[in-house]
Amino acid sequence: MHNYINQQLETLHWNIAPRELYLPIGYALESGGKRIRPTLVLMACELFGGTKAEAKNAALAIEVFHNFTLLHDDIMDNAETRRNRLTVHKKWNANTAILSGDAMMIKAYELLENTPTHLWSKIFPLFTRTALEVCEGQQYDMNFETDENVTLDDYFNMIRLKTAVLLGAALKLGAIVGGASEKDAQHLYDYGIAIGIAFQLKDDYLDSFGDEKSFGKRIGGDILCGKKTFLLINALTKATKDDRILIHNTLANCEISEEQKIETIKAIYKKLEIPRLCEEAISNYYNRALQALDKITDHKNDKKPFIALAEQLMQRVD
Ligand code: IPE
Ligand code: IPE
Ligand code: MG
Ligand code: MG
Ligand code: MG
Repeated sequence: MHNYINQQLETLHWNIAPRELYLPIGYALESGGKRIRPTLVLMACELFGGTKAEAKNAALAIEVFHNFTLLHDDIMDNAETRRNRLTVHKKWNANTAILSGDAMMIKAYELLENTPTHLWSKIFPLFTRTALEVCEGQQYDMNFETDENVTLDDYFNMIRLKTAVLLGAALKLGAIVGGASEKDAQHLYDYGIAIGIAFQLKDDYLDSFGDEKSFGKRIGGDILCGKKTFLLINALTKATKDDRILIHNTLANCEISEEQKIETIKAIYKKLEIPRLCEEAISNYYNRALQALDKITDHKNDKKPFIALAEQLMQRVD
């Protein structure tokens, strides 16, 4: 799947004028990435008897859109590295990341124009609604940085929007192209929401406890931004009064180094066994995903790859 997607991505040519607009797009798309979302599109299409070739334009659209969100997200999160390379706004500048990102979002729509016209009334509203939801999720994510009263419910709603709906939509698009019934397409969407939530939980965990080289992003970035992650919200709830004060003071302290901040917060997370809580939450959403998958009835091919993929995502280190 991965190779097929990379081959298809190479058919998009970015070596065109104006180079200042398109070169950063090529840079972002060639820098690797797990290609999970386009994989989901293709797998979903095949589950209902369609071919990879039939779903490829929807898959490309989703991957280009995803990479667009990363260009803008890295400005918003002040991130310097992604996939072990400089982020677009650091290699060039913020204006470049904004406009190249915009062009990618529009390109995603153009790629969807290559899907069968009789499916457009299903495909375009789904894609548009999803794109808006991602923006909503990103806005909550930023609002929460300075909000001291974020609950776990708020957090789960935020990650559903910023991350899970795109995985769900990828699957639903593939299902639509593959000829799934409305019901089955929705069950697969629900599977996508569940693996998407587990996926973001794991991303939050890796942001603190991952290995920088394999994760490809700076460890501790969320801590420095004051992101209300599953880790921080749970730590604040479970902490003693003293630890709660220590967390607040550490995050607000301008005198200590960034590395000191990260180490202090991580030590508190460990003491409070937050990593174990993460694992439990991830496995809870994994089980929900399998339940949704179970409900699919009219499939032409085996559902096993979807179980394997969910497992793989739970174990990932990147
Ligand atoms: C990163 O997505 C953004 C999140 C939703 C956590 P991925 O972890 O899928 O990024 P790539 O495409 O594999 O680099
Ligand atoms: C990203 O969440 C969600 C979107 C890009 C829409 P993060 O901000 O956690 O993603 P990373 O960790 O930078 O990849
Ligand atoms: Mg972000
Ligand atoms: Mg980010
Ligand atoms: Mg992250």
